[in-house]
Amino acid sequence: MLNVIVIQITLTLTGASVEWSLVRPAIIDDKAVLPCPEDYSPCYCGDYPTFGLYIVCELVSMDAIVSVFNRTTDNNIFWLQLRPLPDLDQRGVNLPADLLSGKRARAIDLYCPSVVTGNLYSLTIDPYALTSSEDLIEYFYILGCDLNQQADFNFLNGFNKLINLYMYGSTNVQAFQNLPELPNLATLSINQCTGLDTIDEFPAQSLPKLQQVYLTDNRLDDESAARILTAMASSSSVDTVIVLSLAYNVITQIPAQILSFTKLNDLSLSGNDIPFVSSASLALPASRMERLAMANVSLNVIESGALRANIVLADLTRNNLTQFESAVFQTMLQGMITLNGSLFIDSNPFECDCNLAWLIRDNRNLLPVVHGAQCSNSTRFEQLDPSGFSDCVLSL
Ligand SMILES: *[C@@H]1O[C@H](CO)[C@@H](O)[C@H](O)[C@H]1NC(C)=O
Ligand SMILES: *[C@@H]1O[C@H](CO)[C@@H](O)[C@H](O)[C@H]1NC(C)=O
Ligand SMILES: *[C@@H]1O[C@H](CO)[C@@H](O)[C@H](O)[C@H]1NC(C)=O
Ligand SMILES: *[C@@H]1O[C@H](CO)[C@@H](O)[C@H](O)[C@H]1NC(C)=O
Ligand SMILES: *[C@@H]1O[C@H](CO)[C@@H](O)[C@H](O)[C@H]1NC(C)=O
Repeated sequence: MLNVIVIQITLTLTGASVEWSLVRPAIIDDKAVLPCPEDYSPCYCGDYPTFGLYIVCELVSMDAIVSVFNRTTDNNIFWLQLRPLPDLDQRGVNLPADLLSGKRARAIDLYCPSVVTGNLYSLTIDPYALTSSEDLIEYFYILGCDLNQQADFNFLNGFNKLINLYMYGSTNVQAFQNLPELPNLATLSINQCTGLDTIDEFPAQSLPKLQQVYLTDNRLDDESAARILTAMASSSSVDTVIVLSLAYNVITQIPAQILSFTKLNDLSLSGNDIPFVSSASLALPASRMERLAMANVSLNVIESGALRANIVLADLTRNNLTQFESAVFQTMLQGMITLNGSLFIDSNPFECDCNLAWLIRDNRNLLPVVHGAQCSNSTRFEQLDPSGFSDCVLSL
């Protein structure tokens, strides 16, 4: 089987720290790159003995790419990266039918050439451009393209083995709405794209087995997020999705639809604007919640009962919390002691008055799972002297 690595990338764009997960085929313990048996110039080709051919066509015209695969004979490519020169007449990248002359690739990355200013190059993909790869391809990425000329995603028709579809930094991705069924797609990443928010009907029925869904930095608001999640909740993925990220959108409340996802245990809503968390809004059905990320959401009030004892990692950094109340945090912290979990909560302006006696004086055993908590005057919780709270009456 193909080895897979998950690379966590943090990239700085417009000042926001955006996280997503990029799953790549990995070349592990395969240091020797052999020259390829055939000449792929002007593309680069390396032959990894255990994995196969790795081919990069960078700043090569589409005609030249077509002729490379027309003249070479090896039918199987492990990983193909295409960064074609644009067709200057059409100011775009156009993938013709049978691009690879019947050859097949396990992973294809398609980059549009970068632009310094202005609109991205438009991408059109013939419905039969990549058909020869349909019984092998597992990874397909589109990066930095404008999809305004594309009507549908029929070029993915028959991609029954595709497990990872990734779109990044692309505009007008509405054609995604017309997606053929991808019966084995587990990871869907659409990050920093436009057009997802205006899709009327998210193609959830074409994605029956999703496990990881990253829809980060796509300007989704409450309404567009609700439309997407409602569609997913009425598909069979409602029982398969484990990871959901809606980070860096413009969402103002925790979407109610998340409560339908029976296996969801890793949720990120960081970088939105969600000042209030109600007591029932995070009551996910999964028995254990591996990660809750709500960093930088202007969080101000959490209702008691919202943070349950089954949360392993919680990230509430860079918020506007002023109270660290036992009714809100104690249950979760006790759970974290048992689960070896952690609460990250730096950069919140906590008031360190008698309301903190429950923790600093009465439950110091919980302090080790609380990371980065500070009073508004920058004193760290663990530096507070418990005797300073001896006159506090027992708070509820
Ligand atoms: C916090 O999120 C806002 C958008 O909600 C963004 O503009 C800002 O850069 C983020 N800050 C950090 C430190 O991530
Ligand atoms: C492929 O190569 C053959 C000759 O081997 C040539 O006749 C044909 O035109 C080429 N096709 C393309 C699309 O380049
Ligand atoms: C943070 O909370 C305080 C007190 O509730 C409020 O006055 C302030 O506007 C809030 N700031 C932000 C950035 O939400
Ligand atoms: C507890 O978690 C820490 C950090 O996540 C890890 O390094 C450590 O091995 C864990 N300990 C146990 C007993 O699982
Ligand atoms: C900050 O506030 C805490 C709690 O009121 C107090 O114990 C501490 O001395 C203060 N630290 C400074 C540097 O003022």
